[in-house]
Amino acid sequence: MSKDHNSAIVGKVLIEFNKLDSTNAYALNLLTGNRPAEGTVIVTDHQTAGRGQMGTHWHSGSGKNLTFSIILYPDFLAATDQFYLNKAIAVALVTSLSPLLPGIRIKWPNDIYIQNRKLAGILIQNQIRGQHLQASVIGIGLNVRQTDFPSEVPNATSLLLEGVEVVSLNQLLKVILSGLDNHYRQLRQQPSSLDATYRHLLYRRQEATRFELSDGTTVEGYIQDVDASGRLEVSLNNGKKHFFSFKEIVYR
Ligand code: BTN
Repeated sequence: MSKDHNSAIVGKVLIEFNKLDSTNAYALNLLTGNRPAEGTVIVTDHQTAGRGQMGTHWHSGSGKNLTFSIILYPDFLAATDQFYLNKAIAVALVTSLSPLLPGIRIKWPNDIYIQNRKLAGILIQNQIRGQHLQASVIGIGLNVRQTDFPSEVPNATSLLLEGVEVVSLNQLLKVILSGLDNHYRQLRQQPSSLDATYRHLLYRRQEATRFELSDGTTVEGYIQDVDASGRLEVSLNNGKKHFFSFKEIVYR
């Protein structure tokens, strides 16, 4: 029997659509009814109203890419530790894709980059009850065969643009789901075991990086790590260490 095949959580149930507005919206809607099985995956060839982070739109050409969402119940995670879910997902994606394309990094908090180009995006929508996570919808958009992108996303890339020809989108999805399953198990067992890998995969880690603060000023420093609450730890050029929250800074 192949490893953990029968006990896989992620991908145990796969719901496929030719066309859908947003797999995240569909998954969130499923959560309002009967409790769907943990690990249910919703996937579509053509997403017409894909959602990105901070209210943006996720553009994905029909039949060219992977756009899917996973329903998880990470109720073992305290709300204050929810960033560990981001870590597990980002590390799983990079680990699954690295054999195809080495050099992929995680641009904090969880964009997937190759050099200075964005290959994939992750949108995690958490539901919290009391002190713990109750349910999460993990949306992943991976650019596979798209070669033209709208001007709003000038730094987008795809596996094909990076020289990787994927024969089967379905096969690639299976590889990624298996990677996500492994890392979700790791998260359940010992969240902190993801720390070192996430840190090593951080984009621009220990490289001089300029950030723009919300007041428009810029600072330069070296990315060191991300703390338990998901803040970016930067050693500033003035010798001080600073922890930035998401939305507080933009890379420049
Ligand atoms: C980002 O802004 O980087 C996050 C993009 C997430 C896009 C994926 S595509 C599948 C899933 N369904 C959505 O509507 N969004 C996510």
